[in-house]
Amino acid sequence: MDVSQLPHDVPDDGGLSEDEKAILGELQSSGLPRREFLKLVSYTGAGVMGIQLLAERKAYAEAASIASETAGIAEASTSSIPVRLHVNKAIHDLKLDPRTTLLDALRETLALTGTKKGCDHGQCGACTVMVDGRRVLSCLTLAAQAEGKLVTTVEGLANGEELHPMQDAFIRHDGFQCGYCTPGQLCSAVALLDEAKRGEASFVTKDLQQPPHELTDDEIRERMSGNICRCAAYPQILAAIREVQSGRKISQTWGFATEEQLAGIGREGSHETV
Ligand code: FES
Ligand code: FES
Repeated sequence: MDVSQLPHDVPDDGGLSEDEKAILGELQSSGLPRREFLKLVSYTGAGVMGIQLLAERKAYAEAASIASETAGIAEASTSSIPVRLHVNKAIHDLKLDPRTTLLDALRETLALTGTKKGCDHGQCGACTVMVDGRRVLSCLTLAAQAEGKLVTTVEGLANGEELHPMQDAFIRHDGFQCGYCTPGQLCSAVALLDEAKRGEASFVTKDLQQPPHELTDDEIRERMSGNICRCAAYPQILAAIREVQSGRKISQTWGFATEEQLAGIGREGSHETV
C-alpha cells in the first residue's frame, strides 16, 4: 500500500501506546519518517494494520540494503589484480581475481594440468607443488602469494627429455596405477629430498638434535602422509623414494614378461599367466 494515499489528519503521538512508541523508535532507526508512522496509526485506529505495513516496509528496506551490499561484492569480484608468476622456466604476467588459488591459476589460466585437483580442501595432496623448493598445497595457496617466488610443478621436474631421478624411480618401481595422485606424490617426494638434506625433523624423528639424513621407511611414510593414493600404490612409492633418497638400488618387485613367457600366452589351451 502506498502511504501517500492515507488520510492527512495526522494525530500527535500523545495517544500512542507504549508498544507503538517502541515500534516507532525502532522504525525511525531504519529510516521511516515519524509523520508516515503517525499517518498509518491514524488510518487503522488501533494502529495494528499500520504496524504490519511498517514491518513490511522495514523488511523491504533491509532486503534492499542486502541487495545493494551483494551488488557491491559482485562488482568487487570483477576487479582483477596483476600477478606475476614464475612457473618452471617461464614468467607469466596475469590478471587474476585476487581470490584465485594457485591451483586454479596453474590449471585454468596457464593450462598446466599436470597438477591435479582432488579434494580442493587441503586433505588429499593431489595439488602439491613446490614454491621456492618447499612443497605447498596449491588449493590452499592464493596465486598472489606465489608472486616473486619460483613455482615448480610436475611439468618442471624433468630436464627436457631427461626425467628427474624420482620420476624414473616411480616408473621402475611401478609407483602408480591410475596416476591421479602421482604429480602431487612426485612433487612431495622431490621436496622431501631437500628436507632431509637440511636435517629437518618429522613427527617420528627420535633425536631432534640430530635428525637423520638417510630416512627410514617410517620417516618416509610419515613425511608422505599428506599425499593420499586411492589406488594404494604406497609400497612401490615408498621403494622409489627410499631408493632415490638413500642413493642405493632397491630391487624391483615386478618385471616385464620375457619373450618366452609372451609366446606361452598364445599357446592353445595354455593357462599360463605372467
Ligand atoms: S586438492 Fe589440494 S589437498 Fe586435495
Ligand atoms: S595411483 Fe591412483 S590415486 Fe594414486
